[in-house]
Amino acid sequence: MGERRVCVVTGSSSGIGAATVRRYAREGWDVVVNYSREAAPAEAVAAECRALGAQALVCRADVAADADCRRLAAEVDARFGRADVLVNNAGTTKFVPARQLEGLAAEDFQRIYAVNVIGAFQMVRALLPLLQRQPGAAVVNVSSVASMMGIGSSLAYMASKGALNALTLGLARTLGPGVRVNAIAPGLVETPWLQAGLGAERYAASVEAYKARATLDAVIAPEDVADAAWWLGAGAAKTTGEVLLLDAGLRLSRG
Ligand SMILES: NC(=O)c1ccc[n+]([C@@H]2O[C@H](COP(=O)([O-])OP(=O)(O)OC[C@H]3O[C@@H](n4cnc5c(N)ncnc54)[C@H](OP(=O)(O)O)[C@@H]3O)[C@@H](O)[C@H]2O)c1
Repeated sequence: MGERRVCVVTGSSSGIGAATVRRYAREGWDVVVNYSREAAPAEAVAAECRALGAQALVCRADVAADADCRRLAAEVDARFGRADVLVNNAGTTKFVPARQLEGLAAEDFQRIYAVNVIGAFQMVRALLPLLQRQPGAAVVNVSSVASMMGIGSSLAYMASKGALNALTLGLARTLGPGVRVNAIAPGLVETPWLQAGLGAERYAASVEAYKARATLDAVIAPEDVADAAWWLGAGAAKTTGEVLLLDAGLRLSRG
C-alpha cells in the first residue's frame, strides 16, 4: 500500500470532477480519473494531475454498470492498494421543461436514476472494502440545488438528486463510524454540462437570470465545488449525513 492518500472521483474528465481531482492532486494525494465515453479528456486531466506531482490512474467505467464499478475498484486496489475518499460526481440528465410532463417517459427516469442514484450506490459498494481499511475515509456525493428547490433540467433529474440525498443520509448512518458520507448541492456551475444541454444563447440567459436571483450575484465555479469536496472528503472529521447547499445564496433569493 502506498503512503499517499488516494481519491477516486467519478466523471472526472470534465467540469466539477476534473476540478476535484486537480484539487486533491494539488494537496498531495494520488487520484483516479474516471469517464465513460471519451478517453482523451480524461488523459488530459490525468496529465494535469501528474504535473502537480500526483500519480493518476485513468479508468473507463460506466457507473451505471455494476461490473464496471467492481472492475474500477479492482484496478484501484491493484495500482494503489488503497482508497481514502470517493467522490460520486458522475451524473446525467434530460433537459425537459418541468411543465412538459409528456416529455418524460419512464425510461428517462430509469436511465437518469441508473447513473445518478444506482451508480453512486454501486460505487460505494464496490470501493467499501478499500475505504473501510482507511481511518478517516469518506464519501462525497455531488447532488444539486435541484433536489431542494424543485428547479433544474427536468423533474426526473430533480427526483434523482433527491434520492441521492436520501441515499447519503442512509449510508452515513450505516457506514459510521468508519466512513463519513456527505453530499454537496451546487447551484448553477459553469461547466460544459449546461452549455451543451441549453445551447449558447439559453445558457448565457440562464447565467444572467441566476445571478439576478442569487444573493451573492454569482454563479458557481467548478473550483468552488472542488473546495467543498476537499473539505468534506479530507477534513470535516465530525460531519456526516450533511447535504451542503452551495448556491451563492439562491435559496435566499433577492425576490
Ligand atoms: N453544471 C451544473 O450546473 C451542475 C449543478 C448541480 C449539480 N451538478 C452535478 O455535477 C456533476 C458533474 O457535472 P458537470 O457539470 O461537471 O458535468 P460535465 O462537465 O458534463 O462532466 C460530466 C462528467 O461525467 C462523466 N460521466 C457521464 N456519465 C457517466 C457515467 N455513466 N459513468 C461515468 N462517468 C460519466 C463525463 O465523461 P463521459 O462523457 O466520457 O462519460 C464527464 O467526465 C453531475 O452529477 C451533475 O448532476 C452540475
